[in-house]
Amino acid sequence: MVEEPTNNPYVRDPKLAFDPVDELSEDEAREQAEKLRAAIEYHDYRYYVRNDPVISDNAYDQLFDRLQTLESAFDLDTENSPTQRVGSEPLDELETVEHVAEMLSLQSSEDESAVRDWADRVREAVGDVSYSAEPKFDGFSVEIVYEDGEFDRAVTRGDGTRGEDVSRNVKTIGSVPLHLPEAPDLLAVRGEVYMPKSGFQALNERRVQEGKEPFANPRNAAAGTVRLLDSSKVADRPLDVYFYDVLDTSASLGSQHEAFDLLADLGFRLDELNELVDDVDAFVDYREKLLDRRADLEYDVDGVVAKVDSFEKREQLGQTARHPRWAFAYKFPARTGETTIRRITVQVGRTGKLTPVALLEPVDVKGVTISRATLHNESLARDLGVSEGATVRIERAGDVIPEVSEVVEEGEGGRFEMPDDCPVCGSDVLQEGKYHYCTNRSCPAQIRRSLQHFCSRAAMDIEGLGERVAEQLVSEGLVETVADLYELDRSELEALEGFGETSAANLLDEIEASKETDLASFVYALGIRHVGTERARVLADEFTLAELMTASEAELRAVDDVGPEVAESIVSYFETEANVETVERLLDAGVSPTRAERGDELAGLTLVFTGSLPDYTREEVTELLEAHGADVTSSVSSNTDYLVVGENPGERKQKRADEEGVDRLDPDEFCDRVLSRIE
Ligand code: IVH
Repeated sequence: MVEEPTNNPYVRDPKLAFDPVDELSEDEAREQAEKLRAAIEYHDYRYYVRNDPVISDNAYDQLFDRLQTLESAFDLDTENSPTQRVGSEPLDELETVEHVAEMLSLQSSEDESAVRDWADRVREAVGDVSYSAEPKFDGFSVEIVYEDGEFDRAVTRGDGTRGEDVSRNVKTIGSVPLHLPEAPDLLAVRGEVYMPKSGFQALNERRVQEGKEPFANPRNAAAGTVRLLDSSKVADRPLDVYFYDVLDTSASLGSQHEAFDLLADLGFRLDELNELVDDVDAFVDYREKLLDRRADLEYDVDGVVAKVDSFEKREQLGQTARHPRWAFAYKFPARTGETTIRRITVQVGRTGKLTPVALLEPVDVKGVTISRATLHNESLARDLGVSEGATVRIERAGDVIPEVSEVVEEGEGGRFEMPDDCPVCGSDVLQEGKYHYCTNRSCPAQIRRSLQHFCSRAAMDIEGLGERVAEQLVSEGLVETVADLYELDRSELEALEGFGETSAANLLDEIEASKETDLASFVYALGIRHVGTERARVLADEFTLAELMTASEAELRAVDDVGPEVAESIVSYFETEANVETVERLLDAGVSPTRAERGDELAGLTLVFTGSLPDYTREEVTELLEAHGADVTSSVSSNTDYLVVGENPGERKQKRADEEGVDRLDPDEFCDRVLSRIE
């Protein structure tokens, strides 16, 4: 067990009244930095490995800030300091290095009979054995080498003999020990780096918002991240690691379960699902159990591994050129599914965007039947080479929409081409960059989706008006523009299939209640292209509705976060007569979007700070923000809107922010996006 550092004032209830840096001698600074490092490493261990922190995030951040200050003020060596976990300057390329010993792969199969045959061969060679049963983590494997107990390097698997040096990136993972409490001269451990599903989801959402392609699955995201040249970017991404192997240089270990005990004692993170099982039947049961839990795990697992527990017996079994004879991976059904494309259709979105969608022969992917997959846009569909009748591979990652990842065999249908006319209303289609749009604002497909958008939570928040009802309202001709919603009458609704007196009355109440709204939600609800919730809020702060409707491109561009494309889209929205008419009808119907009152401008906004700001103390800024209705809290949660990152920021809040998908602001952005709203 990793022991608490003794005689270290920064471990329990750390005293945080630090002497001013300029009053310290160099020796005092070095000594204090050493104690801080030991304490922070211990806190990292408690937090990331044991999941049982002993100090608050705030206290941790202060220790971290202090260490950074000392290291830079006294130019201290930081090679294996926890401050390296925030990353350092980008590299030009990754160096290639040799492994301590070859990294072999595992023999594997999805068939139970193959697993049993393997177990028979083992029994014939060495008699009855017990197995270490482990999840087969679907991530990216690395070897980490410690010399004299110090982190020396982390290396990717590469070709098994040589891999790439990804030390700086792996150091950003909080659960990776930088020093070992006691260790032989040389210790190499192996494990699987992965991206937790929740972090993956948040990362992808952020990438889509930034206009970047999302990662297809957590494994690709982890692999891409570990190999990034800029380790400070890696520090921003949620990675973690489970260890499953140690190369025993002191030859004191006799089995896998002893190896796990040693790894745990040294402070490495191990999965709780590792088990010692008596025979192959128990291993088959273990696989069943894990398969059931697969969807609930925070990481992707693509099977289970059985390893002969005894090292002596492993020795007797030996290895082939590629894999050891003493281990076998019993794979889960493939995460990707293979199927054929029946037809390619084109969907029309709220803004009129046309998206090609592959309709598939239904296929089971990770326990879910998939019958359609997005092809994103014409150029992607062409790059993939999809055609009707083609055999394709389907990926489904987390809850991301399934997508076609590869064409396995071409079909008879020709190359995909976007139609010239909207498949729903027949109007002209216009290409803008990679995307195609239907030019008719009253296209029924657009109306239905605009209606859904208009009613969504972040917009007018009309509960009970989801996809099905929107479809009914549009196809029955009751709603042609969102303004028609406010003129629906009870008998019309009651006549709809699935509606009764109560449901009709409830929906009308919801519609009535939505009339009281704030300007930002209203602007967002209009569904102007490129105006998401965030921009809508900025616009609502700058303009009244009347001003926004008549603003010129130049006036709009004067607003932060509004570039030429956005300005053009807003102007063109309000230049379209039908849109102006809709807005006017909404107002006439009694929809009354209000702007925030003075003193209330930041109501609903929750902020967390880390590090110091150039112009304010923490107290000053907190007081100011709270006076205008914002909440300032000390830890990041899913309710946090922004993490403001000042000078010498703490690592933990930033990690948490990434995990929760919380946006960060640097001090300038904080001034532009928050302070500007009250000054
Ligand atoms: S042991 C010689 N244990 O699977 C055996 N590997 O195909 C060395 N993997 O490259 C590997 N979970 O990336 C082992 N519990 C586990 C594993 C595991 C995932 C990966 C590892 C390796 C690949 C082998």
